[in-house]
Formats: sequence, structure tokens, C-alpha cells
Amino acid sequence: MASIFMSRRLPDIAIKMLEKEHDLEIYEGDAPPSKEEIIAGVKGKDALICLLTDPIDKEVIDASPSLKIIANYAVGYDNIDVEYATKKGIVVTNTPGVLTETVADLTWALMLSIARRICEGDEFMRQGKFKGWAPLLMLGGDIHGKTLGIIGAGRIGRAVARRAIGFNMRVIYYSRHRNEEIEKECNAKYVGFDELLRQADFISLHVPLTKETYHMIGWEELNKMKRTAYLINTARGKCVDEEALYRALKEGIIAGAALDVFENEPHVHDGLKKLKNVVITPHIGSASLETRTKMAEMVAENVLAALKGERAPNCVNCEIYES
Ligand code: NAP
Ligand code: GLV
Ligand code: GLV
Repeated sequence: MASIFMSRRLPDIAIKMLEKEHDLEIYEGDAPPSKEEIIAGVKGKDALICLLTDPIDKEVIDASPSLKIIANYAVGYDNIDVEYATKKGIVVTNTPGVLTETVADLTWALMLSIARRICEGDEFMRQGKFKGWAPLLMLGGDIHGKTLGIIGAGRIGRAVARRAIGFNMRVIYYSRHRNEEIEKECNAKYVGFDELLRQADFISLHVPLTKETYHMIGWEELNKMKRTAYLINTARGKCVDEEALYRALKEGIIAGAALDVFENEPHVHDGLKKLKNVVITPHIGSASLETRTKMAEMVAENVLAALKGERAPNCVNCEIYES
């Protein structure tokens, strides 16, 4: 029997699967545990199950010499010092694939909301301001027939692009590599980063947060976009320079932004919150009951495999098995 620390209560399925075979300690707070609390929880454990809100750095990793696996309850794992974990022979796992379609759905919900002013309209109605149909009331931008620019043609980027077919959109994409699937599935055209910025009516970010993608959308990039364009971010907040985005939205450099992720979560730029041409959601990309359940199952499968000395199915540093 091994010991596991879970930094927040996950859906029951994971708890049942893990408790059947191992000792499980769960952090029961509603808010993310502090670093001290994570370190105290990890101490002496064989496995750590963590969230994207938990910074898993050297200090946390060193808190338990018997640590074998760090299983993130997310597909993004920029919160973990993977290089250091790898050096120590600790496997890091994530939850790819099971959340792809759910995040793509939310991305589209954001796209539709910002272009057609859904949240603004909802607020207007609740405030009793609706005086009847009017020719110039809440005019937004069309979605059908426009150009969708996907940045990062991975699992989620492609799923977002696929949905564009039904809206009769033209799809262009930028990624470090050409991607045959996105080209076949949606007739997407591979373009340079600059070309994408200049041509797209909707730009949707789907890259992981890395040194290269940090602030990949800043003042300069925003100024290359069409003044009628919208930026959608369901990737990571730090991929966008939030201060520059605020200025661009305020000064009409772009038409609007819809954001599920923020540069310094849970803090949201105070200026952004006051703008009407912004839609914001609380990092709920994968938040459907079905998907969060599948993610929990995946996390448990990874931990159970690693604790048995088997290869964790969703390792992100699988090279540890080669040495
Ligand atoms: P993925 O399949 O790995 O796709 C990411 C793609 O980004 C890769 O295919 C890669 O393609 C491209 N990329 C990487 N670095 C790049 C760079 N410097 N410039 C341009 N493209 C780059 O990952 P995914 O499953 O689609 O998830 C993507 C991200 O979404 C996650 O990392 C996570 O941060 C975020 N996410 C957010 C939520 C939410 O709740 N809002 C939920 C799930 C995921 P190339 O090799 O061709 O560059
Ligand atoms: C959520 O943001 C994830 O990376 O799964
Ligand atoms: C609007 O409701 C219309 O009938 O055009």
C-alpha cells in the first residue's frame, strides 16, 4: 500500500479507485492550498495529485524522497517543473484528449458570446432596459463566412476548427509545424503568424504556456489585427499581455476579447472587468460533469499504474522510462 496526497477533492470515481488500493490524503479546502500546505501534504508520500493552480517546484518535489508520480488534473502542465521531476526520475502525467471537445465547445460559446454581445444583452434585459426591437440595438459582428485563425493546431485547436465548418468559415492556422489533419478536416490553410494576425476575424489561442508562447500576443501583435477582430483565449492567460490587451480594447485597436484564462489567476485585470467588449469566464474550459469525471478517472489510472511500477499511460516526460 502506497500513500497519495490529493491537493483538492476530485470527482468520486478517482477517490474510489485510489482508496481501494492505497492510503489517500485529501486537502479539503475550497481554495487552492498554500505552498506550505502542499509541502506538508506531499511529505513522505509516493504520489501527488495536483491542480493547475498548484505550483509544483523543486521545493515541493524535494518534500518527499519517495515521490514517484506527479499527476496533474489538467492537460496543461506549465505549473510543474517537469525538467526537475525528470531529473529525479519522477513521472509527470496530464489529462489529454478527454477534455478536448468540451474545451472546444466553450471556446465557441465565448466566440458567439463576444461577437453577438450575449452577456451584454443578458445584463441589459435584467436591468429592464429593453424597450422593444430596434434597428440599431446591440449590433455585433457576424461569425458565419468570416475567417477563423487558430494558433496552435493541437487537439483543442483542431476541434475548434472543425466546428467552424458548420458556420461556413474560412480557417487559417499557425503552429510550429504543418498539420495534415486540420488541413484535411477543415480545409485549413497554414499561414505565418503575422499573416494570421492580419487576416483573421476571430483569433483563438490553443498553445501550451511555454517560454516561447509567453506574451505571444502583445501590443505589437494586437496592432496587426483587424480593428473588427476578436481575440479568444482558452489556453493560458500568460500567453497574452493583459495590460496591452486592455489598452487595445479600450482604444478600439481590436473589437473585443473573450477570455477563460487570465495572466494572474484568480486576479482579473480591473480595467478588463469594466469594458463592455469583453466576456470573461472563470477558467471553465473543461468544466462539464462528464469531462471532469473522465479526467478524474484518467488521473487515478496514471497514479495506479505508476505505483505498480508500470508505465503511466499519460506521461509527459516518458523519457524517464528509457534510462
Ligand atoms: P496540444 O494537443 O499539445 O496542442 C497544443 C499545440 O500548440 C501543439 O500541437 C503545438 O503544435 C502548438 N504549439 C506549441 N508551441 C507552440 C508555439 N511556440 N507556437 C505555435 N504553436 C505552438 O494541447 P491541447 O490538448 O490542445 O491543449 C492546449 C492547451 O490548452 C493546454 O496546454 C492548456 O494550457 C490549455 N487548456 C485550457 C483549458 C481551459 O480550461 N481553458 C482546458 C484545457 C486545456 P506545433 O508542434 O505544430 O507547434
Ligand atoms: C485546463 O486549463 C487544462 O489545462 O486542463
Ligand atoms: C426579427 O425578429 C425578424 O423577424 O427579422
